Amino acid sequence: MGDYWNKRFTEEGMIWGCEPSQTVTQAIDLFKKNNVHDILVPGAGYGRNTKAFSSYFQVDGIEISSSAINLAKEWDLKTNFIQESVLEFSTCQRYDGIYCYDLLHLFLLEDRKKLIQNCVKHLKELGVMYFTCFSDCDFNNGVGREIEEGTYEYKEGKYAHFFTEEDLKGHFNDLNILETGSIRETLIYAEKQQKKYELRYIFVQKIG
Ligand SMILES: C[S@@+](CC[C@H](N)C(=O)[O-])C[C@H]1O[C@@H](n2cnc3c(N)ncnc32)[C@H](O)[C@@H]1O
Repeated sequence: MGDYWNKRFTEEGMIWGCEPSQTVTQAIDLFKKNNVHDILVPGAGYGRNTKAFSSYFQVDGIEISSSAINLAKEWDLKTNFIQESVLEFSTCQRYDGIYCYDLLHLFLLEDRKKLIQNCVKHLKELGVMYFTCFSDCDFNNGVGREIEEGTYEYKEGKYAHFFTEEDLKGHFNDLNILETGSIRETLIYAEKQQKKYELRYIFVQKIG
């Protein structure tokens, strides 16, 4: 997966512009209400979201692509970026909060479970996590070859899992589910091309 993303970031730079996702405002609010001071951002990309968080919190970002990290280090000077796979990442540090935007749906079931388990491992007791992912209401759901239940190769060589609400909750059923919801996200690509995505989010707490 690293090669695919390295190529994209090298060729396209700040692919989704420099504005953070609209979910960042909600996550900042929820993190403040839950006394969060330090956060981990798996799949941090070039730092468009971490930059908004790093004004309020101590932030570590994990990212597999060296090209993305090079861009991120210039864009967001306050976040500490670590080049590693989120599936292998390991540190003795434990975080108050985790924000993970549109990474979960990129993996097959075994690795989705591994990603969540590794995040939970790095969370303090009663720590909170905010995840987003593709919704089953997204227009790409059902497009292309079905690789696993709910996972489609919607573009050649690129697949994603599309979550129903029940499926998303099922992935986090060892945690206290505090909130779920749906969002329509508009991303602006190069030459002002817009794409709309139907996403789901989930906000959970590690049970003490
Ligand atoms: C859809 S992009 C989202 C990027 C960022 N969250 C944003 O919204 O700007 C997914 C990101 O996850 C990174 N990624 C993919 N697989 C990864 C892995 N195994 N470990 C760490 N990062 C990964 C990609 O390089 C890419 O930056």
